[in-house]
Amino acid sequence: MRITLSIIKADIGSVGGHIKPSEDLLKAVKDFVVEKGKGLIKSFYVSHTGDDVAILMSHTHGVGAEEIHRLAWDAFVAGTAVAKRQGLYGAGQDLLKDAFSGNVRGMGPAVAELEFDERPNEPFLFFAADKTDPGAYNLPLYLAFCDPMYNAGLMLSPSMAEGFEFTIMDVSYTEGDRVIKLRAPEDIYDIAALLRDNQRFVVESIHSRNNGEIAASVSTTRLHNIAGKYTGKDDPVMLVRVQGAFPATGEVLSPFSIGHYVAGFMRGSHTGPLMPVVKNSSISFFDGPPVVACLAFCVHEGELTEPADAFDHPYWDSIRNKVSDKATAIREQGFSGAAMLPYSELEYGGIVEKMKTLDRKFTVRE
Ligand code: F6R
Ligand code: MG
Ligand code: MG
Repeated sequence: MRITLSIIKADIGSVGGHIKPSEDLLKAVKDFVVEKGKGLIKSFYVSHTGDDVAILMSHTHGVGAEEIHRLAWDAFVAGTAVAKRQGLYGAGQDLLKDAFSGNVRGMGPAVAELEFDERPNEPFLFFAADKTDPGAYNLPLYLAFCDPMYNAGLMLSPSMAEGFEFTIMDVSYTEGDRVIKLRAPEDIYDIAALLRDNQRFVVESIHSRNNGEIAASVSTTRLHNIAGKYTGKDDPVMLVRVQGAFPATGEVLSPFSIGHYVAGFMRGSHTGPLMPVVKNSSISFFDGPPVVACLAFCVHEGELTEPADAFDHPYWDSIRNKVSDKATAIREQGFSGAAMLPYSELEYGGIVEKMKTLDRKFTVRE
């Protein structure tokens, strides 16, 4: 059966700052999808990661289907009404346009979609991150799909022997989708040369070279390119098919043990380590640290199973402790150097005015 998995997520308001949505908000989004999704979608699952609400849907309408995107948009509008009624902080934050225009892309919410012919058993992973941006997935995807140090299947499994094709997007280009296709293993130095720059080059999708099938899809939204000003970090979602011709679940999870430093954290303007957390986690220290959750599902004839919470295991406790230590370590140097993002990535316009004022006060000594 040919099915589509669509994950559409938005921050539409949260309790006590940019922490987590309210129970009533989540209920409003779920109730809306139950009611209006009848006959349209096969199955769905609503969760939150920090202040972002994600709607995972399985259906047969393909990628970019207007009715699916409209369902998610309208569910977020319904959730926003509750957020406003409760006085939640940042109510409707990511709904940047007044009216739905056929596709949520470019309207604020993030979207990642996969369309494929279902295997007899079809396991996949849904990732959602908060207080960071889409480039946060660059390193984990590189390591899981290119490096036998993390993916033993690249050595051991004949079904991954031919490697993978990466589609990488230049997200600083705003006139359209500027993309390049590169192949692992022969292009891995070129892939690394692009993916080291998390703010400019972002993995959009990955395909198996053994069977041509899509393996992964990442949301590539950069909100400040849409809004032209700070509206929050882009808090990316990702779908990854696993097992068989794709990496095993544990091979995709493996690089998240690094707790690598990513952009985001307080005011979207700092560097912080990415902490793997359990589902429906909230946000704390310095509006962070940046977090990533992973839910593992199977889908059969379009029906989703219940999720397995991939980072809810004793192994990840020590990783979380390590990441806390890394977060404290970089926070000790406050605004200095590597702890904050470069000027071009600072998410608050106030600094631009400040720099202009200071610039006028400079004098050049004879
Ligand atoms: C980062 C984030 C928070 C806010 C911060 C200030 O992505 O959402 O760190 O930037 O709490 O929020 P505002 O500007 O809404 O007062
Ligand atoms: Mg928020
Ligand atoms: Mg968020």
